[in-house]
Amino acid sequence: MPVVVTGSIATDHLMTFPGRFTDQFVEGKMENVSLSFLVDDLVQHRGGAGANMAYGLGLLGLGPVLVGSVGSDFDDYDAWLTRHGVDTGSVRWSELKHTARFVCTTDTANNQIASFYSGAMSEASLIELAPVARRVGGPDLVIVGPNDPQAMVQHTQECRDRGYPFMADPSQQLAWADGEMIRTLVDGADLLFTNEYEHALLLQKTGWSEGEVLSRVGTWVTTRSAKGVIVEQAGQTPIEVIAVPETKPVEPTGGGDALRAGFVAARQWGLGLERATQVGSAVATAAIEVIGTQEYSLPTGPFLDRFAAAFGTAAADEVAPHLPG
Ligand SMILES: Nc1ncnc2c1ncn2[C@@H]1O[C@H](COP(=O)(O)OP(=O)(O)OP(=O)(O)O)[C@@H](O)[C@H]1O
Ligand SMILES: [Mg+2]
Repeated sequence: MPVVVTGSIATDHLMTFPGRFTDQFVEGKMENVSLSFLVDDLVQHRGGAGANMAYGLGLLGLGPVLVGSVGSDFDDYDAWLTRHGVDTGSVRWSELKHTARFVCTTDTANNQIASFYSGAMSEASLIELAPVARRVGGPDLVIVGPNDPQAMVQHTQECRDRGYPFMADPSQQLAWADGEMIRTLVDGADLLFTNEYEHALLLQKTGWSEGEVLSRVGTWVTTRSAKGVIVEQAGQTPIEVIAVPETKPVEPTGGGDALRAGFVAARQWGLGLERATQVGSAVATAAIEVIGTQEYSLPTGPFLDRFAAAFGTAAADEVAPHLPG
């Protein structure tokens, strides 16, 4: 049965201004600002945590079902995801709004002026999971990734009501969500993912102890950038997994989403927690060594060689039969 990935779907439009913003600000004239910067570079990246995770799962041959809300500008992005093995048949197209978009201009001093338009994402709470399950079969796992807050709460509630196993991945939404909302998102999850900072924030905001969280979720995975990953379960000794040695990050954004994709794929293949975390780390390394969150590929030979060098040949032999192609 498929993995259903709910979460944000967005594009990033990144421009560079070959000067300094501050040279164009006129002191004492800041109450009526009308500035235009002639930029010399524009790159566009496909992103959004939901789409990033689905991309990784697609590369790994899982045929994930992406669930989220987009605008009429989604055609090209749709084709891209489909080409990489993602089922986009349950993506909802808004009639009124564009796909969520992050627009950012950076100057030569690394100052940034950015805007985030949530657009069609704000309609994600209109999506129900039951019709998705009717179309593709009852899901093995529903990932509740960062998204429109109301959609996250509803997807989580629907999973609990219908008995779909779910993964809580609140990520950056933890920054502003209150304790009550976070408790709602986490309680009863099969899997909980956070990075180290979010791990601490979650404890602080929910008021739960480490043990109380672990009594409410099956497994808590905490990523710690170059320091590796910790996997915790109630009553078990935590499992620690190293990050892939000699990772050369060129853009760390998206590492978390790629790690989740690798972990979930390996669990679907039936591999143990330690092995799945290693697969996640290897996919994360591939993702952060390129610019863009969906620009990496996982060519079987090189992927396995690097995996074996990091985690041993016995581990690589366990993973090899499951890799596509
Ligand atoms: N410098 C690094 N060296 C090796 N691996 C790294 C490095 N940075 C990130 N990773 C890999 O990416 C994974 C996720 O990174 P991190 O713990 O920073 O999550 P995050 O802050 O949520 O990331 P994101 O920016 O994608 O939200 C790590 O567990 C690790 O496998
Ligand atoms: Mg993250």
